[in-house]
Amino acid sequence: MEIKRLRLIMATAALPVLASASFTASADEGMWLPSLISERIGDMQEKGFRLSAEDIYSINQASLKDAVVLFGRGCTGEVISPEGLLLTNHHCGYGQIQKHSSVEHDYLRDGFWAMSRNEELPNEGLTVSFLERMEDVTGRILDGYSADMTEQQRDSVVKANSGALIEEATSEGKGLRATVEALYYGNQYFLFLYREYSDIRLVGAPPSAVGKFGGDTDNWIWPRHTGDFSIFRIYADKDNNPASYSPDNVPYTPKKFFRISLEGVHEGDFTFIYGFPGSTREYIMSEGVRYISEVSDPAKIALRTERLGIQKKYMDQSQAVRIQYSSKNASVANAWKKWQGESGGIRRLGTVAAKKAYEARFAEWAEGTVYENILPQLDSLYEALEPYMFALEYYTESAGTVELSSFAMKVSRMMKDSLADTCATQQQRDSAAASFAMELAAAARSFYKDYYMPIDKESFIAVMESFGRDISDGFKPQCFKDALAKYGSVSGWADVIFGESLFTDSTRVLALTAADTAAVSNDPATRFAREFRGWYTTDIYPVCQRLNREITLLYREYMRGQMEFEPGKAFYPDANLTLRVAYGKVMGYSPADGVYYEPQSTLEGIMEKDNPEIFDYNIPQRLRDIYAAKDYGRWAITDSKGNTTVPVCFIATNHTSGGNSGSPVINADGDLMGINFDRVWEGTMSDIVFDPDYCRNICLDIRYVLFIIDKVAGADHLLDEMVFAE
Ligand code: ARG
Ligand code: ASP
Repeated sequence: MEIKRLRLIMATAALPVLASASFTASADEGMWLPSLISERIGDMQEKGFRLSAEDIYSINQASLKDAVVLFGRGCTGEVISPEGLLLTNHHCGYGQIQKHSSVEHDYLRDGFWAMSRNEELPNEGLTVSFLERMEDVTGRILDGYSADMTEQQRDSVVKANSGALIEEATSEGKGLRATVEALYYGNQYFLFLYREYSDIRLVGAPPSAVGKFGGDTDNWIWPRHTGDFSIFRIYADKDNNPASYSPDNVPYTPKKFFRISLEGVHEGDFTFIYGFPGSTREYIMSEGVRYISEVSDPAKIALRTERLGIQKKYMDQSQAVRIQYSSKNASVANAWKKWQGESGGIRRLGTVAAKKAYEARFAEWAEGTVYENILPQLDSLYEALEPYMFALEYYTESAGTVELSSFAMKVSRMMKDSLADTCATQQQRDSAAASFAMELAAAARSFYKDYYMPIDKESFIAVMESFGRDISDGFKPQCFKDALAKYGSVSGWADVIFGESLFTDSTRVLALTAADTAAVSNDPATRFAREFRGWYTTDIYPVCQRLNREITLLYREYMRGQMEFEPGKAFYPDANLTLRVAYGKVMGYSPADGVYYEPQSTLEGIMEKDNPEIFDYNIPQRLRDIYAAKDYGRWAITDSKGNTTVPVCFIATNHTSGGNSGSPVINADGDLMGINFDRVWEGTMSDIVFDPDYCRNICLDIRYVLFIIDKVAGADHLLDEMVFAE
């Protein structure tokens, strides 16, 4: 799913001499930096891994890292053929599949399979990035910094040095992109250099009844039976370099691709996940955890419950609306459900109390050291931050979700940009007008394609009424109070916005010229967005930003303190959408007393759930026929009960996060055994606290992928490209 890079931080990311990592971390917790994997390789090998650190990450020879990509800006993918075939999740390719879909060609419902290369569909805007190398650049980034500088001066040094480093690194070749990332709250800096490909074509996707089987009912839940995969192909210019879409481009030849393992999955098997986890906060203090689990998560859940109910009502009434809102609905539902699991998990584990106990021990140890005052300082900063942070998050989840007003603001910005290009000659003015019209038409096309006003209006009423109830009067913006006084109620206000705004009529929007600024800026939808945004940017955001900065700074100290406090512990940096290795084993778990969940699911479970009456469980007829005929070909297995069946999903103890979706699940020999796509309900708090008893990642068995391609889709020509491990 989409990762918010700029986290709305109660605590944000931002070097000590790091503790040597040769000690074991607790069980399978940890997301390790591949370039430092030699520090973990002994432990990995002890647990069954049969390859070396150089096989995982090397800058001298092709290694597994060269077969892993950042897919878009929020998922992972892996190369599985010498001709650039790429595997990721169905939910990661969902936006692209949806964009190519219409009521006539509903690839979401029916699936899509390119039967030849020229049927593969280009996807504007989609990129995949290979990591060329990563490097500890702390020394260079802090070059010129001295301890007597202010934090602001430090920031300037970091920024200037990062800029220079990025420029230097990206001048080395074509399609290079670099970032410098702060690890451990800025105790350490790493350079990540990527090669980014931008001609990525859709090759295949199963019908949603397979790729999204179980839908949001089963999302974040084990046992699971979702065939969550889609297939793309990377295209390059004739020299194998990145190039934007061209019919002349050719399939990319990878440095490395995964061989496919058909060996099967057994409890206890070693696995590792290689991918891009987005964001974790494992080292924050109890106050931060309390805010998340007791304040923030519950409020956001309630707001989304309202919106989801409204979306469902209209989606159930119309197939067209279902397609329009499928992608939006999935992303609203996804975090909504995760937050419930997360806050529940934190409460069940007693993480706030456990962190408090840890902090008491830390405080005792810290007495008389430079770390002595950190925790009380953090505590009072948190107290000051809470009401502002709450308002900020509430804004994002309420006023910030009104589609019409976001679009109105977008058009208003486009107008301003267009007018800002002062044009001297008539010819220049004409060409500026033409390019504005084109830009507007493109934006309108993509907005109206997926816009259904009744959903937006009802959601507006629901979230703004909640805003009125949940935000204290002292925090409410004047524009909110004025509007209620003027229109009598939120729904009266909605009647004006959705009844009078020109943005509800695409014809009127398409007739706008860059000179129509007054009409746009006085429009009720634009005014709503502008006034609310004005309140947010002047009254709320700056306070959050200032306090969060101070909190991050203290976390830099606290992080270093924790490392000194526990010199025997192996620390790993919080996830920040950079490449990581997580390893563990295939293993079931006990979610509750008297219950044990097996680590594998099979086609039997799909048939148990199959029900044409239930949208989420209505499988394709073809799958029923195959099941009836037991026509499984080479994909058949015998399960623990003696059934001849087909494997579907499995779980393991790898520490993953959002962004790890689509990650390769790799066996002890470095071959592909599955695709990561989710976590189990009882373990969704793992971004904050990892519990080895409950935290499991959910993987799609590669054999189910092959079975679907071969038997259900009839696209077995794709299998000819793949290489199977002996
Ligand atoms: N829970 C998984 C992850 O966070 C899969 C999400 C798929 N989306 C959905 N709404 N079912 O992204
Ligand atoms: N489903 C998530 C993703 O899209 C993975 C997770 O959160 O476990 O990245």
